[in-house]
Amino acid sequence: MQTLVSVGELRTRLSAWRQGGARIALVPTMGNLHEGHLELVRLAAREAERVVVSIFVNPTQFGPSEDFASYPRTPEADRAALAAEGVDAVFLPEEAEVYPLGRSAATQIRIPALMDDLCGRGRPGHFEGVATVVLRLLNMVGPDVAVFGQKDYQQQLVIRHLVRDLNVVTRILVAPISREADGLARSSRNQYLDPGERARAPALYAALRTVAAGLAEGGQSAAALCDAAMAGLQEAGLAPEYLEVRDAATLAPADPVRRPWVVLAAARLGRARLIDNLLIP
Ligand code: PAJ
Repeated sequence: MQTLVSVGELRTRLSAWRQGGARIALVPTMGNLHEGHLELVRLAAREAERVVVSIFVNPTQFGPSEDFASYPRTPEADRAALAAEGVDAVFLPEEAEVYPLGRSAATQIRIPALMDDLCGRGRPGHFEGVATVVLRLLNMVGPDVAVFGQKDYQQQLVIRHLVRDLNVVTRILVAPISREADGLARSSRNQYLDPGERARAPALYAALRTVAAGLAEGGQSAAALCDAAMAGLQEAGLAPEYLEVRDAATLAPADPVRRPWVVLAAARLGRARLIDNLLIP
């Protein structure tokens, strides 16, 4: 497995692979890899002959009071896990490689219809940071396919939107949510939970499933089901930020005649902010 830190050496390596006829898949990450990330890597390997994983804790997607400084950084363990998966290259750029003109001069990307709601409401500027770094990574690598996770539902919609709207040639694939045995969606931030919090955390997925079951049964409105689920989360000791049923393609309010829907939620639990979602076919 190659470890590359500059765009120059990355491009040299990639063009050699391309000349040999290989398709290239990119899996962008912030590192501290868990099984959910590795499932993205396995999907990437089924779609392309060469797999590149980027690890970059992107400062522009963290708010001033968020966990950028303390975000878990485990490059050696990450490299070992990726090598064991047969990954061809890990791209570990420095900030100056990703933001060559400096962060304050960086080109901004805004998609108002998708970025200001749900997680964007609680994390102003977050999706602008995600979009700008993902476009940079796509431009640096020029992959045939890039793989993201459904766990970050709003994020994958932002990325699909920007790729379509800006005519980026990369095909975007989204892998299903990888969960612990008790239903909790895997996340690098789950390690912020103490044992008591960890035991309560599956309540988030359970709340989504309750809403989905209520919608399938009929009789109660989505709003009533979400209110009840929010109250249930509070009782379980979580501090819900939102829990809503939306149109799965646009995140607009769910329209009774337009499917699929998605139930999305975010909640604080101790030092962690948990997110999860469930598609309603
Ligand atoms: P990160 O949180 O490291 O996640 C990297 C990728 O793994 C994302 O596409 C995310 O949706 C996916 N992922 C994480 N946990 C998952 C799970 N339990 N099941 C399925 N997929 C999961 O998301 C980011 O980094 C950043 O915002 C990034 C896209 C790299 C831009 O900086």
